[in-house]
Amino acid sequence: MSLEIIILAAGQGTRMKSALPKVLHPIAGRPMLAHVLDTAKSLQGNISVVVGHGAEKVQQTFSAENINWVQQEQQRGTGHAVMQAMPGILSNGITLVLYGDVPLTQKETLEKLLKSAEKSSLAILTVSLANPKGYGRIIRDATGKVCSIVEEKDATDSERAIREVNTGIIAINTSLLHKLLPKISDKNAQGEYYLTDIIKLAVVDGVEVGSLCAESETEVQGVNDKIQLQQLERACQLRQAEELMRQGATILDSLRIDIRGNVQVGRDVSIDINCLFQGNVVLGDGVSIGPNCVIGEPGHKVVIGNHSEIRANTIIEDAVIGESCVVGPFARLRPGTFLHARARIGNFVETKKADIGEGSKVNHLTYIGDTRMGRDVNIGAGTITCNYDGVNKFETVIGDRAFIGSNTSIVAPVKIGEEATIAAGSTVNQDVANGELAVARSRQKNIEGWERPKKG
Ligand code: UD1
Ligand code: CA
Repeated sequence: MSLEIIILAAGQGTRMKSALPKVLHPIAGRPMLAHVLDTAKSLQGNISVVVGHGAEKVQQTFSAENINWVQQEQQRGTGHAVMQAMPGILSNGITLVLYGDVPLTQKETLEKLLKSAEKSSLAILTVSLANPKGYGRIIRDATGKVCSIVEEKDATDSERAIREVNTGIIAINTSLLHKLLPKISDKNAQGEYYLTDIIKLAVVDGVEVGSLCAESETEVQGVNDKIQLQQLERACQLRQAEELMRQGATILDSLRIDIRGNVQVGRDVSIDINCLFQGNVVLGDGVSIGPNCVIGEPGHKVVIGNHSEIRANTIIEDAVIGESCVVGPFARLRPGTFLHARARIGNFVETKKADIGEGSKVNHLTYIGDTRMGRDVNIGAGTITCNYDGVNKFETVIGDRAFIGSNTSIVAPVKIGEEATIAAGSTVNQDVANGELAVARSRQKNIEGWERPKKG
């Protein structure tokens, strides 16, 4: 028996007031439709997506996925949308209809719905709302059996008072769907082909309609405007934070963490308030992240080794950090940064393509770019690697245990030997051998008896 999943995503989303097709608006850093596709894929069905408005952009975004794309030129209703997909739908199984703008439905809920449809050949997912305005209402008979769904615009006053509503998500025996769809008409207040008319047609056919009431509203909530987008963003973020806590992470405030990607945690990870994680982030055992940090970039990977500490206001774009390092506060690690164990990057330090050896310290106000640095090096405050001549980038190599005095400019390409010492304030543009002292600054001149200019 095959499972066919039809995802409706042709609507314009006028209320989003955006040039971006609705289903491409991001939740947790990924298009809404990507969340629906993840859930669909986890159910292992054949996936058809009905597109209309912004179809090209939507298809481009998911060009790598195995999807049967269906065009719906004019949006003539949810029933019409499903009709467009039917030529590609095998009839020996169950069809599940999902919406591209309902991103947070859980796999477990849909599995229950499918079970129910196996028994009764048609099952709908409903939800009870304090304010059911705008939704299709579920009409039940005296014994509680579902008889039909009435759209808000077609409903009588007493029907409008019903609080159990249609989420739009249905599972139906595919041959039954093939049989009933052609019977739907557009004779209603909106002049649309309503998929929901399937229910009363099935009842006439003697089908007992199954129903499942969703436990949480967020699971079935759709996005029609930016307010609902933000509500689902927060719901999704809370879900992710709770998942990390279940895995043992300490999160100081689950309302003040954002994950737009994947975070893997070891034991005893602690995350302070207002942190943003992006791309793929791996946090080892005992890692602590201070407040206001941005860890990772979309499409990149950050690995932080066991027992390393990232202090407040640090930005890590793409880096591998070894064990027991300390980074920040106010540090910025750019792509290609590699810190070996116990390295220390302090405040107002920027690194890029920098391999920093074990135990080396770059503590204050420094730029280290295109650099290979040995172990136990000490970089004084205000040191700058001048790695760029306006066209090309050049490399700096610094040997083990070298000591670079404060306010040094290192003009690459240059090599500084092991245990070499650079006097503070130097501009180094020639190699320095092992153990040498380089002083590259003008001598101090003191002028005796000099008189300061005086005012008025
Ligand atoms: C629909 C349901 C309503 C339910 C509500 C839940 C129908 C007739 N009504 O109403 O019972 O309470 O969803 O949110 O089914 N779409 C297309 N092509 C179309 C029309 C819609 O792809 O021609 C897609 C939209 O992009 C959207 C989804 O189907 O993702 C729902 O369409 P929408 O117009 O929002 O349906 P509602 O009127 O809200
Ligand atoms: Ca809607």
